[in-house]
Amino acid sequence: MTVTAESQATSLSTLLRTGSQAEHTAAEGSSFMSELLAGHIDEAGYAHFLGLLRRVYEALETTAAGLTSDPLASAVIDTAIERLAAIDADLDHWGRVDADSAATDAYVARIRDSASWGGLFVAHHYTRYLGDLSGGQAIGRILTREFHLDGAGVAFYSFDDAVPKPKLYKDAYRARLDALPLDEQECARVLAEVKTVFSLNGGLFAEMTTHLPKYARA
Ligand code: HEM
Repeated sequence: MTVTAESQATSLSTLLRTGSQAEHTAAEGSSFMSELLAGHIDEAGYAHFLGLLRRVYEALETTAAGLTSDPLASAVIDTAIERLAAIDADLDHWGRVDADSAATDAYVARIRDSASWGGLFVAHHYTRYLGDLSGGQAIGRILTREFHLDGAGVAFYSFDDAVPKPKLYKDAYRARLDALPLDEQECARVLAEVKTVFSLNGGLFAEMTTHLPKYARA
């Protein structure tokens, strides 16, 4: 019997990774990320960005707290990897910037709306935390080098105690995704939300790009 590609079951973790590859490549190549990693953004610019991320993680982590009994969301929620306290420690280093941000408002609203179905929250959780455990590790190292840091200011990228081996954590996370009782349509809905989350992150980067002239670093 010929098995068509369509009829082959794809695990949710593979669907999310392969299905959002184009969005990931776009996020990696965004001018904000490129400029930041090239060391072209000053401390105030990074503080501004981190202040926006703080609002994103506050929304993720307060929404998670309300979903601990949800059969889908509870499979990924793990207070041990939460980032809010780490971000606050970093903001003590970089300084706090109170900036209006329409892109962050839209992102936060979408996170809060994801509480309507645990599968949507899973999409939000996956896109940020698995990203932080992946490329985020390299970003932390580059910031350390560019800003000559001695450990202060990059707690956001450090999961040391909670996750001694990111690869093992990510493998276990993917296994939990793959065990979720979701049908094909529901999996497609999770993937669609992951793509939306990437585009909300892209909106935040694009907004940061408009501020770059005042944050140029020689
Ligand atoms: C310059 C910026 C970025 C770099 C260099 C980067 C790099 C990477 C790398 C190397 C991996 C694969 C790690 C592995 O296979 O174990 C990865 C995975 C991932 N990244 Fe990024 N990334 C960046 C930005 C982002 C952004 C902005 C997001 C989302 C907001 C994101 C979300 C993810 C996710 C969800 C994964 C896990 C994919 C999976 O295995 O299912 N990344 N990233």
